[in-house]
Amino acid sequence: MCGIVAYIGNKQAYPVLIKGLKRLEYRGYDSAGVAILNGDMRVYKRKGKVKDLETYAKDKVTRGSVGMGHTRWATHGKPNHINAHPHVSGNERLSLIHNGIIENYATLKEALIKLGHEFESDTDTEVLVHLIEEVQKREQLPIEEAVRVALTKVVGAYAIVVIDKEEPSKLVAARKASPLVIGIGDNEFILASDATPIVEYTQRVVYLNDEEIAVVNKSGDLQIKTIDDKIQTPFIEELDLNIERLEKGDYEFFMLKEINEQVKTIADCMRGRINAAEGWVNVGGVTEYYERIANAKRFIVAACGTSWHAGLIGEYLFEELARISVEVEYASELRYRNPIINEDDVIIALSQSGETADTLAALELAKDKNALIYGIVNAVGSSIARTTHSGSYIHAGPEIGVASTKAFTGQVTLLTLMAIHLGYKRGTIPRSYYLQLLNSLENIPSQVQEILDKNDQIQYIASEIKDATNALYLGRGYNFPIALEGALKLKEISYIHAEGYPAAEMKHGPIALIDENMPVIVIATNHSAYEKIVSNVQEVKARKGKVISIVTEGDKAIKEISDYCIEIPDTDEPLTPLLSVIPLQLLSYHIAIMRGCNVDQPRNLAKSVTVE
Ligand code: F6R
Repeated sequence: MCGIVAYIGNKQAYPVLIKGLKRLEYRGYDSAGVAILNGDMRVYKRKGKVKDLETYAKDKVTRGSVGMGHTRWATHGKPNHINAHPHVSGNERLSLIHNGIIENYATLKEALIKLGHEFESDTDTEVLVHLIEEVQKREQLPIEEAVRVALTKVVGAYAIVVIDKEEPSKLVAARKASPLVIGIGDNEFILASDATPIVEYTQRVVYLNDEEIAVVNKSGDLQIKTIDDKIQTPFIEELDLNIERLEKGDYEFFMLKEINEQVKTIADCMRGRINAAEGWVNVGGVTEYYERIANAKRFIVAACGTSWHAGLIGEYLFEELARISVEVEYASELRYRNPIINEDDVIIALSQSGETADTLAALELAKDKNALIYGIVNAVGSSIARTTHSGSYIHAGPEIGVASTKAFTGQVTLLTLMAIHLGYKRGTIPRSYYLQLLNSLENIPSQVQEILDKNDQIQYIASEIKDATNALYLGRGYNFPIALEGALKLKEISYIHAEGYPAAEMKHGPIALIDENMPVIVIATNHSAYEKIVSNVQEVKARKGKVISIVTEGDKAIKEISDYCIEIPDTDEPLTPLLSVIPLQLLSYHIAIMRGCNVDQPRNLAKSVTVE
């Protein structure tokens, strides 16, 4: 939530900042702003997207080789020009950008008002820049020290960058619970919320740790301290990020690109972890902590949103294949209960961004209770990846469309590999079934391609139901979480109200909603409970519901009674979710496009939810 980027060096800062903000726009897009230092400090802010800021600043002076930019997802205060960042101190000497929430801002604001400070915006961030100004004025400190002292009084989450007009050859940055990466170039630094604005200038980065402050300056120096004043040695890492993966290429939207990439990303997730011909599967993170993981009393999956849906599939997989008991928790609920977590539990955190505040907090809580923490993450070097004891990257590459697609299938692939690995080693699945699953898993990428080839048919079905105001998604077993995920994809990008239900639960309430205007999307592949779901479809038809079914190739019973039917290739039941989700992603995409929605940046959403 909120993207920040800053530059200091010999280049013109403004183009670097605008390009960086466009890369970070997935984190928030309700307003944007820049501050450029060139003798004077010029601040330009606009409600709307980065391109609105660009249009606004077109005829303005943007020269200067020190600057910073921000793209906002509003927490405190409406999205408008005044609440947009950067925020400027009362004496107009300092400007500041911020990602996170200052929880004690009201108390600080009250105290600052008593000292004569006047505020323009409704944000928590403006309080921070006034607080630094106050410390700087009172204690006559250099800017980095003023920031450090001010932060000792702050409760909350932040990644900030501060510019001081009187100290124009440095930038000061700090973080706590919100990400900040420092790119180190030749006598230049690019600071950002993630590595995407950095990668085209340098591969060398430092991930700032919680409660650390960094000072970078024009002569190429980087110094890091903790907030309690201990000098730290910067740990420089090499980025492994391909710039092409940050571009849309020939696609109009990232979401469509990412849906189509799944043939490759699922294969990338399996690469080096499975070989059906040689009969092995090996998930490195599991091997490393095998005894603790295989003998765990319980797995607790902590996640949010789409990642939580992937976790639900993990529950079916681990319970069926490895006979390990699983609980799947919304991280936001887990962290505020007083949960029973023991040393012999394993907490599995699922997160695309690796920055979701609730998931991170749930992990920290479980860590305090001495459970083993395992991360299944996409973003390399992210906070969750660095908090866990062990884990696996899904290797899906940057996911930029706000609606998660390839990260979901990456998470499910990884959970499947883990469940097969553990099931075989624990002796809970026979060798013949194990080998069969490995073979089937290796076939999944080409089967995903077969489904993607049905795009025209799916687009046609989308055109038939695009005007609906509600939709119901039904599935059983492994396809129940897919029903939830299908409904979430539809509502978040097309704004059609949609609900996912276990098919049998329909009779306990939602059936009352069904009439001829209600599209009912039924995921009914040919596995356990197939006969039962046939009856559920009959019940929908009897109430004139419009049935769109996802069935296994060759299906007869459900096809006959459906209004529209999408066939997907056959596979073993535990692998079905990897296929059945694909047509639902495409269906949502096409419906949203036909309704004129911006699928990559749906309203009110942000990709990386770094506030609770
Ligand atoms: C929906 C979506 C969100 C995320 C959720 C968790 O398409 O993308 O529901 O899944 O915000 O995010 P991560 O996986 O980054 O922790």
